[in-house]
Amino acid sequence: MNPKIKNICCIGAGFVGGPSMAVIASKCPNINVTVVDINHKRIEAWNDKNLANLPIYEPGLDELIKKCRGKNLFFKTNIEQAIFEADMIFLSVNTPTKETGVGAGQALDLRWVEASARQISKFSTGNTIVVEKSTLPVRTAETVKSILISNKDSKDKKSNPKSKSFSVLSNPEFLAEGTSINDLENPDRVLIGGDDSKAIEALENIYLNWVEPQKILKTNLWSSELSKLTANAFLAQRISSINSISAICESTGADISDVAEAVGMDTRIGNNFLKAGPGFGGSCFKKDILNLVYLSNYYGLEEVASYWEKILDINNWQQKRISEIIVHKLFGTLSNKCIGILGFAFKANTNDTRESPAINICRDLIEEGAKLKIYDPKVNNLQIDLDLKNACISSNVEYNNDSWLIENDLYKTANNSDALVVLTEWEEFANINWQEISYIMRSPSWLFDTRGITNKYIAKKNNINVWQVGV
Ligand code: UDX
Ligand code: UDX
Repeated sequence: MNPKIKNICCIGAGFVGGPSMAVIASKCPNINVTVVDINHKRIEAWNDKNLANLPIYEPGLDELIKKCRGKNLFFKTNIEQAIFEADMIFLSVNTPTKETGVGAGQALDLRWVEASARQISKFSTGNTIVVEKSTLPVRTAETVKSILISNKDSKDKKSNPKSKSFSVLSNPEFLAEGTSINDLENPDRVLIGGDDSKAIEALENIYLNWVEPQKILKTNLWSSELSKLTANAFLAQRISSINSISAICESTGADISDVAEAVGMDTRIGNNFLKAGPGFGGSCFKKDILNLVYLSNYYGLEEVASYWEKILDINNWQQKRISEIIVHKLFGTLSNKCIGILGFAFKANTNDTRESPAINICRDLIEEGAKLKIYDPKVNNLQIDLDLKNACISSNVEYNNDSWLIENDLYKTANNSDALVVLTEWEEFANINWQEISYIMRSPSWLFDTRGITNKYIAKKNNINVWQVGV
């Protein structure tokens, strides 16, 4: 008989752990789901009565929290207790790129995964199914397994009152921020990797509460781990491909949206992920490709490594190229010019700024002496400050108190600006009243639309010079 899951624990209350567990709790009212995190402030925010203060912004998330929190969904800091009670534990801790030591700059830093595995090993009881949700290097499950069993025969009866056993599964998350609730509720597929059929069945039974059986794919652990890296690498590759073509369009007079439409109508290619922009951001793509490069080099596959490395090169180049176009169009200098930045999140409908192209582009403009006014409808001001300070410091770019100002309104951002640069495709930027804006900007006024979402004809009609990506 397969184990019946009554208590789930998720370690890591971030962009993956929070929404994934909210959806499981909402779809499985008979399972208690406890999300734990070492970051007490984050847990406090998840428990905030005012749903506008949840630590992450995701459309639809607040409704799920309202429905389940305090009933079968709990956010807690007592990690040991939650592990102790759990039949199944999801690992959703962050796995950033290593900054120092072997594999620095490419390999993933597994210290949090390892620390969590040690805690599970110590405080779990009975049979526990450990599910990897974090993106991990291929064969991490092996490491997790060996840590888990290291404490199995511990004599520490207090922390180890019953005999224990573990099964490790890989169940990578394919949610995209901004649409994560829909992605979780209506997944293209659910991937479960593992070799313990009972554990696989237990996890499958949870998903069967809302996912059709034919969408649940079962593989071995390594295929599952590698599939996640590959899916992200392929998506990133499409963006670099279309961005490389956007540059050709700008040189030849072709229009990238026409090219993308024509290419995407070929059903073999498909029309998703063909939107040219300022380059991809987010916590996953860069990190996962770097990891793929590391893995390839590790196995002596240098050509494979350099193939994937190029995807990142094009991404960096696209960001640099955009900064240079702005400088060039504004007569080669930005000193004493005011530039309004519209959008700082790495994509619309999230407050996440990790690897946002806005960070590097803003840093480049600051380096050129521009004064920035930055507006994003959801990103926290402190986060913008932190990102820009870190970016300037790590690239030795000088900045001062006047280098950037954070605004809470589009019109204040445009007021007296020489140029507006759209960096995130927030809906509000697609509907700007260009007539009003043209009155309050300095002339000659410029619009740089890196997302291709503004109405360039109306902007031009109102005497605003327009540059749009891929046109
Ligand atoms: C996820 C995945 O887990 C990661 O592998 C993927 O590649 C990116 O997305 P995400 O949820 O976006 O991470 O990360 P983040 O928002 O940083 O959340 C991770 C949380 O884990 C943080 O709140 C952190 O405090 C917590 N954590 C970390 C623990 O609770 N315990 C630890 O030991 C380490
Ligand atoms: C991605 C994957 O889509 C998801 O499956 C995985 O689990 C985590 O990584 P995420 O990073 O949240 O999700 O968002 P995504 O929609 O993939 O966008 C990533 C970046 O690519 C953003 O900066 C976005 O603006 C950019 N992008 C996306 C484009 O520039 N053009 C496109 O056509 C699509």
